[in-house]
Amino acid sequence: MNIRQLPEVLINQIAAGEVVERPASVVKELVENALDAGARRIDIDLEEGGVRLIRIRDDGGGIAPEQLPLAVSRHATSKIASMEDLEAVASLGFRGEALPSVASVSRFRLVSRARDAQHGAELRIDGGSLGEVVPQAHPQGTTVEVRDLFYNVPARRKFLRAERTELTHIEDWLRTLALARPDVELRVTHNGKPSRRWKGEGDLLSELRLHEALGEDFARNVLRVEHSAAGMRLHGWIAQPAYNRASTDQQYLYVNGRSVRDRNVAHAVRQAYSDVLFHGRHPAYVLFLELDPRGVDVNVHPAKHEVRFRESRLVHEFVYRALHEALAETRAGTGHAVSGANTGAAAQAWPLPQAPQQQPMGLRVSDAPAAYAALYTPRGGDAVMPSAPLPSLATMPEDAPGGMPPLGFA
Ligand SMILES: Nc1ncnc2c1ncn2[C@@H]1O[C@H](COP(=O)(O)OP(=O)(O)OP(=O)(O)O)[C@@H](O)[C@H]1O
Ligand SMILES: [Mg+2]
Repeated sequence: MNIRQLPEVLINQIAAGEVVERPASVVKELVENALDAGARRIDIDLEEGGVRLIRIRDDGGGIAPEQLPLAVSRHATSKIASMEDLEAVASLGFRGEALPSVASVSRFRLVSRARDAQHGAELRIDGGSLGEVVPQAHPQGTTVEVRDLFYNVPARRKFLRAERTELTHIEDWLRTLALARPDVELRVTHNGKPSRRWKGEGDLLSELRLHEALGEDFARNVLRVEHSAAGMRLHGWIAQPAYNRASTDQQYLYVNGRSVRDRNVAHAVRQAYSDVLFHGRHPAYVLFLELDPRGVDVNVHPAKHEVRFRESRLVHEFVYRALHEALAETRAGTGHAVSGANTGAAAQAWPLPQAPQQQPMGLRVSDAPAAYAALYTPRGGDAVMPSAPLPSLATMPEDAPGGMPPLGFA
């Protein structure tokens, strides 16, 4: 058999197989690009569950006309330039493959006007074949339009579900995002009608957003977590044990702002809840873990749903301790529920529950290496794990569900 080089379009379609499973994956990639471009407001127009149309418009930094062909080229990115950049990556994207992948399996249009540019420009791609860059009026920012997803990949199209199901996957993803980025306004329309609006609310996750995303019962039964040690910080919200779920559907974990599933962290959370929850019930939480980006490898999954911690036992111990402490307060009867009854007053003074005791450690990511060293380096030796006994990882079931709501990805 002759070996031959595959055509570029087919290469992109193969890559799309990993990254683009359904409309929700396209929305994820495009919205992440908008966030990386510094958008404060993102408009998401959908038709037929996103299968017929996904149009995402942002007010971010935009793309210069001469860069449009590069934006849709494989392995072209403005986000990293070296291995050092990759190891400390702070942007959501870094692979330089989302746009070419999406464009190879749809009718695709990219319109953008860069900050301070006089004019906008447009580039169309139909099933991977590239058009010309032409002038096009556009406010500052970018619009990406994706029509007829998988029209040229019948095998994939067959796996798309009913409009309602695809829309639900998109909404689930947007909820995940809305919890992490309360500072960004998201407006969603479906089949020409407004379907959801997340108002921009400042930098901190507010009661209003928590309530909107997870419902009143969660907001009523929530405990605030704020814990730092060893250059790591865990903050967010966990449900009191009395509020528990039959599934892992309300488990939101963000590592340095990125929504991920992580078996290690999910296990630590389960362990912290182990003596306060009935068997078969699951805790609900929205947790943000922050640590030195060099301590996390984000390049382990094509759609970036997973990360790998360099010090996974340390992370496990840290999360377990933080939550165990927070829950101990409820056991002692000192936990405070947050009233979620009156969401209209959410922006006003909000009686935050007492945060668990914090250890006095620096929170800045730049402090992390020193903090690690101070805590875990014996005199003259290499960094080691803390001497306190760690919860056993041996009990971690292989197929334990992770900490993210189902996106519908395999
Ligand atoms: N909405 C946007 N606003 C401004 N620039 C954008 C936007 N979308 C894409 N770009 C530019 O196009 C480039 C390619 O985007 P693409 O999503 O393909 O790759 P990436 O985001 O760099 O990496 P990844 O494949 O991991 O998402 C980006 O690096 C960015 O410079
Ligand atoms: Mg991207």
